[in-house]
Amino acid sequence: MEIFPLAAESLGSRGMCVVVKTQDQQILIDPSVSLGPLRYGLKPHLKEIAAAYLSRQLILEAVKRSTIIIQTHYHGDHYTLGIERPYEFTDHKIQEQVYNHPNIIILAKDHKKKINYNQKKRAHWLWEKNVKIYSADANKFLYGKTQITFSPPLPHGATGSQSGWVISVFIEDLESSVLLTSDVHGPSNDAALEFILENNPKHLILDGPSTYHPKQMQEETEAAFRRLHQLPHEHYYLDHHFLRDRNWPGILEEQNLTKKAFPLSSLVINTPLCLESRRDELHAMEPMKGQYQDFYSLFEEKNEAILSIIKDRASTLPFAFLKQGL
Ligand SMILES: [Fe+2]
Repeated sequence: MEIFPLAAESLGSRGMCVVVKTQDQQILIDPSVSLGPLRYGLKPHLKEIAAAYLSRQLILEAVKRSTIIIQTHYHGDHYTLGIERPYEFTDHKIQEQVYNHPNIIILAKDHKKKINYNQKKRAHWLWEKNVKIYSADANKFLYGKTQITFSPPLPHGATGSQSGWVISVFIEDLESSVLLTSDVHGPSNDAALEFILENNPKHLILDGPSTYHPKQMQEETEAAFRRLHQLPHEHYYLDHHFLRDRNWPGILEEQNLTKKAFPLSSLVINTPLCLESRRDELHAMEPMKGQYQDFYSLFEEKNEAILSIIKDRASTLPFAFLKQGL
């Protein structure tokens, strides 16, 4: 089994997009990428935009060889939307390129049960479009040597969260296994933890508590770490929300998890990028104002010269080499 992250905070943008190559399937999980619109009062830096561009290119490349797409929920950092969103490098055409393939099976969060209004609206297109789409919630699927098991719908965040529901996924072949939690924030509830413990995967990919977020409650963070400490794994990957915190290495140290929890990027590169958490430093080191006149308006208008600057910058990022292996 091979696992490649294509979009994640540790790869410089927002996402939890992963390719899993089992003995007989290529599975693409949550094929999307996004950027935090404002952090420290600043728009994304050129380097972050380049990282999101690269992740989008990798997703479009990976989908060509995928046999299965998994969609854990319908937020823009996991689900490619069909509306024009420059910072996600998406529009209607890109959405078609990601999902509209007669031969790819799509296993997706149910669009009728345990879904909030916004996500239901977004999911509608996908469920109308594809004939090979199946409701994944609490279901199990077998494709040759590959078995895929989904959790029941889990709260996106703490129990009772307004952000809706997600599903965790456990993939196994005859040799190995991986579990990706999606946005369970920690885990921030016992059901999410139980799904991990029940399946006991060889590789485990978690998002983490949103410690960077001003509304994150201290007791939620503590409960999330209590659950992380219950995991029997010698090591796992902890990324997404947690790596938006500039102080994530310090928190891991306080929690005595430095030798256990690693950024998802460590599967492919040595040093995590974590660009959003350092956005203020990036702007201080390489100011966008002055250097590029009206960068943001030109970018949003899809100006060719700005796009070529982004492409050049993307080719210098340390995970650009992944393009060859997908
Ligand atoms: Fe997310």
